Amino acid sequence: MAKIIEKRRSLHNNIKKQQEKNNKLQLQLSQLHALANIGANWAMVAHEINNLLTPLKNYSQLALMHPEDDKLCKKALEKSVLNSDRISNISKSILAVINGEANEKRCVNLRQTIDEIFSCLCRDFSKDSITVNIDIPENLSLFVVPIEIQQVFMNLILNARDAMLSSGGTLDIKAIDSGDTIQVDISDTGCGIDAENIDKIFDLLFTTKNNDGQSSQTSGSGLGLSFCKKAVENNDGDISVNSIQGQGTTFAIQFPKPKQVDT
Ligand SMILES: Nc1ncnc2c1ncn2[C@@H]1O[C@H](COP(=O)(O)OP(=O)(O)OP(=O)(O)O)[C@@H](O)[C@H]1O
Ligand SMILES: [Mg+2]
Repeated sequence: MAKIIEKRRSLHNNIKKQQEKNNKLQLQLSQLHALANIGANWAMVAHEINNLLTPLKNYSQLALMHPEDDKLCKKALEKSVLNSDRISNISKSILAVINGEANEKRCVNLRQTIDEIFSCLCRDFSKDSITVNIDIPENLSLFVVPIEIQQVFMNLILNARDAMLSSGGTLDIKAIDSGDTIQVDISDTGCGIDAENIDKIFDLLFTTKNNDGQSSQTSGSGLGLSFCKKAVENNDGDISVNSIQGQGTTFAIQFPKPKQVDT
């Protein structure tokens, strides 16, 4: 009998020790998850800064090669100011998050936001045989963190351009006020998305773009859409996709309509 009691006690002690080990491992795992999350966030921020630095560098290089072209030099300087401003806003918004502050939401005019994105980009879309149609009522506003939503639209526009780079096409950006929500559709007539990939495109690091550094195809890191999803949800919106391979893709974003604001 004494032996059985002793065995039980030792079994109990063992279970207790295993539970303590398990708790420690759980804690380590959640710390690792938190670290992975920070890493992913920083990668997304670096990606957004890079989206803005690339056109800035390309224009500055062009201007240096043609210092006699006053118009080009002026454009390069304007882009430098605009894109540097954006980069500084991205840094400020990260600092706010680190300091535990919420980034401030503001009413932003949607049409102006979209127009500004085209000013931040490098190459005119017409040079790649891409026609851009923008159909957004002048007075439509969103209540969002401006820098986050600017970068969302920039990513979607850059993806649409990549999808049409090989043979040109049409990019339609349309917004409608449907009562409680404002819906923005970004559609392209590009390569479309393979049915087997459609559920993966918002995953972190998922890309079908070539990264060998040799092919003429654009390279990708698979950070753009996961950033978009995070940022849209952070602004109480919703993003979805519809695509037919070989025909094109539409990203639809719904934002709640700003309250007590004339839209
Ligand atoms: N408009 C589109 N047309 C076709 N495929 C698209 C489109 N938008 C996204 N995709 C697909 O979704 C994938 C993920 O897009 P995402 O923007 O996250 O990464 P990426 O563009 O590959 O790289 P990056 O991090 O530079 O943005 C793309 O690689 C592509 O396969
Ligand atoms: Mg992308």
